[in-house]
Amino acid sequence: MSELIDDVHAGFEQRFGGKADGVWSAPGRVNLIGEHTDYNDGFVLPFAINRRTFAALSLRTDRHVRVASSFAEEVVEIDLDELSPETVQGWAAYPLGVAWALGQDGADLAAVPGFDLFLDSNVPVGAGLSSSAAIECAVAVALNDVWRLELDRRALVGVGHRAENDFVGAPTGILDQSASLLGRTDSAIFLDCRSFDTEVIALGLDAAGLEVLVIDTGVTHEHANGGYAERRASCEAGAKTLGVGSLRELTVDDLSRARETLDGETFRRVRHVVTENARVLDTVRLLREQGPTAIGDLLDASHRSLRDDFEVSVPELDLAVETAQNYGAIGARMTGGGFGGSAIALVPGHLVSQVQVALDGAFAEHGYAHPDMFTVVADDGAHRDA
Ligand code: GLA
Repeated sequence: MSELIDDVHAGFEQRFGGKADGVWSAPGRVNLIGEHTDYNDGFVLPFAINRRTFAALSLRTDRHVRVASSFAEEVVEIDLDELSPETVQGWAAYPLGVAWALGQDGADLAAVPGFDLFLDSNVPVGAGLSSSAAIECAVAVALNDVWRLELDRRALVGVGHRAENDFVGAPTGILDQSASLLGRTDSAIFLDCRSFDTEVIALGLDAAGLEVLVIDTGVTHEHANGGYAERRASCEAGAKTLGVGSLRELTVDDLSRARETLDGETFRRVRHVVTENARVLDTVRLLREQGPTAIGDLLDASHRSLRDDFEVSVPELDLAVETAQNYGAIGARMTGGGFGGSAIALVPGHLVSQVQVALDGAFAEHGYAHPDMFTVVADDGAHRDA
């Protein structure tokens, strides 16, 4: 990663002249299991990955802000006092949304100075690996430090979440920011989205000789419009009809009543969420008792539920999952919101290239674009690098 730190320093100097005060970074994430449960107050089990967004930042002496990045030519400039969801569009809404959200969430920004910020990243964009949360969290930890706000990680999760929901306009849950801020090497983060209780769960992949292979289908997904918001609305409607505050309050035993009460589609959406919460708890138990070789069937079951009940998979993700399963993965599933993006496969180390070759062949045979494939490891959450 030290090369990326040099790159982001160099990018900052080139755009703004002068040296940045510091560099902060935050990772993308893979969700091991617990999909579309976060906004239902449920359980998730993501881990931060060794792909990060770096933010080089310097404070200014006035209230002006300039943001630039390796992924766009433009330098976006604005005054801190002008920040509002209406004033910024495009990629700059992610970093500037965080500055705005800090003010909304109780930090007193009346007297803080403006800043120059340059972003660089090796989290693939649009791959369902939370490149947005990586930007938000890198900027959140940077501003928290330089503005001496002393907000804890939990508060920063809320800040990133607010930036994405209220400034960018994507109605997502707290999964991505939690993974990016709370991640730990070789571990997943077990998060109860109702109480915000978290536990670090050892993954033990290395000792078990397992790799997590990411298969980026290249099919782009856009959360802000359409499917994601619709699924969320279905879950809320289901909870309301069943007389509960959120679907988290239901267990598998409640499903027969739900089937009698709800229309077919809403019932399937509810069944996914209820069974997925149970699968997260089972995964945590199995990781503790038996290690990662025991969780493959739960990953497979999660994918089937997302495909058939929640209907957020796409043919490319299904093909990635089936092919990986057929050629040696012990479990595989789509990860993230769906409608495109990436699948993950848990693969014995010596079979990774065999699985990759099979995926290449299967995608070519179906006339799908070549998928981007790489292994990831569980990495530390957001921090200061330099
Ligand atoms: C996206 C959202 C998350 C979560 C997942 C689905 O990644 O950003 O909040 O809802 O989809 O589990």
